[in-house]
Amino acid sequence: MLSYRHSFHAGNHADVLKHTVQSLIIDALNEKDKPYLYLDTHAGAGRYQLSGEHAGRTGEYLSGIARIWQQDDLPAELASYISCIKALNPNGMLRYYPGSPLIARHLLRADDSLNLTELHPSDYPLLRNEFQKDARARTERADGYQQLKSKLPPPSRRGLILIDPPYEIKSDYQAVVKGIQEGYKRFSTGIYALWYPVVLRQQIKRMFSDLEATGIRRILQIELAVRPDNDQRGMTASGMVVINPPWKLEQQMNHVLPWLHQHLVPTGTGHTKVSWIVPE
Ligand SMILES: C[S@@+](CC[C@H](N)C(=O)[O-])C[C@H]1O[C@@H](n2cnc3c(N)ncnc32)[C@H](O)[C@@H]1O
Repeated sequence: MLSYRHSFHAGNHADVLKHTVQSLIIDALNEKDKPYLYLDTHAGAGRYQLSGEHAGRTGEYLSGIARIWQQDDLPAELASYISCIKALNPNGMLRYYPGSPLIARHLLRADDSLNLTELHPSDYPLLRNEFQKDARARTERADGYQQLKSKLPPPSRRGLILIDPPYEIKSDYQAVVKGIQEGYKRFSTGIYALWYPVVLRQQIKRMFSDLEATGIRRILQIELAVRPDNDQRGMTASGMVVINPPWKLEQQMNHVLPWLHQHLVPTGTGHTKVSWIVPE
């Protein structure tokens, strides 16, 4: 089943959180000269038109990126992320939103490489066209979970692996843990960043206990909720699970999350959280 299209949700509060974390991890990797691999298992289309039929219909970006990108008091932690938004919207009008592959494209260096997989028959060609002229990038219409077996470890032995499934099938909650286990077996020093939605808190608790049961250590949780948990349909919060986070990430997120929450959720409902699922 591939009914999910990210274009309906591009630039919403969950993307803001995900891409803030992604860009801070890339900043940290860029501090060393040595090249690395950026592996995006569920890459999406790459670029989203915000006035288009999909994003324009839901307007989710209006309570996401639109609320923050032009603030004058942007915290330093958002500099790289917002530089990607501004590069794509140079005339000051918010017309496009960069998905995770475009954020990586903007921030990676000449010797780094990108491996991007996407299964959707409409989104994959868009992704491929975006990257046709980028010699650093390889795009494939393939199952992202398989890449965790076939593409790891990277020859450089450095890498960020972003795992961002739509969770439209319940088995994704188990598949991500299995996929991480497969990847970690091959590449235990990689940085793994897993996005999750909070629709039913119980599903996330179960996913975390499955993660703990793998024996993997250094697992950080970062979460931003726009409403309290409830058992109605709909996403109340989203988060990132980061394995082997760069040493500054915890402190950076503790600093930037209250600012993000204040601007994304003017009513003040919900919460923010940075905590270790499994410490050192
Ligand atoms: C949440 S979106 C990705 C958004 C993107 N990572 C970003 O941040 O811009 C999830 C994507 O995964 C794709 N997808 C679903 N199952 C997949 C699979 N097994 N392997 C690769 N892609 C898959 C969907 O078509 C969808 O485009």
